[in-house]
Amino acid sequence: MKGIILAGGTGSRLYPITRVVSKQLLPVYDKPMIYFPLTTLMLSGIRDIQIITTKEHQQAFQTLLGNGHQWGINISWCVQNEPNGIAEAFVLSENFIGDDHCALALGDNILFGNGLTRLLQTYKQPRSGATVFAYRVKDPENYGVISFDEKGLGTEVEEKPDKPKTNYALIGLYYYDNQVVKIARDVKPGLNNEKHITDINKKYLELGQLHVEQLGRGYAWLDAGTVDSLHNASAFVRSVESRQGIKIACPEEIAWRMGYITSQNLAELADNLMASGYGNYLWEILNETKENK
Ligand code: G1P
Repeated sequence: MKGIILAGGTGSRLYPITRVVSKQLLPVYDKPMIYFPLTTLMLSGIRDIQIITTKEHQQAFQTLLGNGHQWGINISWCVQNEPNGIAEAFVLSENFIGDDHCALALGDNILFGNGLTRLLQTYKQPRSGATVFAYRVKDPENYGVISFDEKGLGTEVEEKPDKPKTNYALIGLYYYDNQVVKIARDVKPGLNNEKHITDINKKYLELGQLHVEQLGRGYAWLDAGTVDSLHNASAFVRSVESRQGIKIACPEEIAWRMGYITSQNLAELADNLMASGYGNYLWEILNETKENK
C-alpha cells in the first residue's frame, strides 16, 4: 500500500496568510498542518509516502520532513505545477504507485477519535475497489456528499451540490485499488477546470465498488482550509492536548509506538526539540513506558 499526500493548491481561501507560506505548513496549534495527514497514513501502516506540493513550496516541505527516515518511513516528492484538481494526484504519482494500492490524504484534513488507530490498521491489508469515509456535517454543500445503503455501498456521490441529498460529507482520505491510476487518467476537468476526486468516486460507484465507512460521533474531522476552520482546528487540538497531556498527530511518537524507530532514536529526536516543550513530551512518553515496564 502506497500513500500520497496532496499539499498543493494556492491556499487562496487563507490569503494573505498563504501568499508566501504554503497552507499545509501553517501551524495547527503546536505542529505544522501536514503532520496530521502524514500521521493518519502512518497509523494506517503506510511507510512509502509521496508528497505532492507546488514547485514554489517544495523546498520548505523538504527542509521540514526530509526523506522521512528519521521517522522510519520513506518520503518521496512530486510537483503539481497547476492547481488542476485532486484527481490529478494519481496521474502525477503513477510511477510511484506502480502496481500497488494507494491511499490519498488531503494535506488540510485532520482526523481524530477513539479507535481511529484500530480502524486505520484494518486498511493495511489492501482491499479491492475504493473505500471512502462519510462524516456527518452541518454544511454538506461545501464537500463531496455521499448517499449509501445499509450495506455501506455508495449509491450516489456529488461534489458540493446546491441541494445535498444527505448530511454526509466525504472526508479527505481515500483508499483505492490499482484501478485508480487508469480511472484518474480518464477524468475530464470540471468546475473551475479541476479534475475532481468525486469523478473517481463516481466511477467506482458505477462499478459497484465504492465502499463507505461511516465515522460516528466519537470522531472529530476538521479541515483547516479557511481562517475560521484553521483557528477552530488549533483550538480543538489545544483543548485535547492540554486536558490529557498527550499529543495528537505526533510523528515521532507514532513512529516509536509503531516500532519504526527505537527508543534511542526517539531520545535523539527529543533532544533536538527541547526549547519548545515538544522534546519534553517525547522524553515523558519514553520515561513513562520505562516506568510501566
Ligand atoms: C475536497 C473534495 C471534497 C472533499 C473535501 C474534503 O474539497 O473535492 O469532495 O469532501 O476535499 O476536505 P476542497 O476542500 O478541495 O474544496
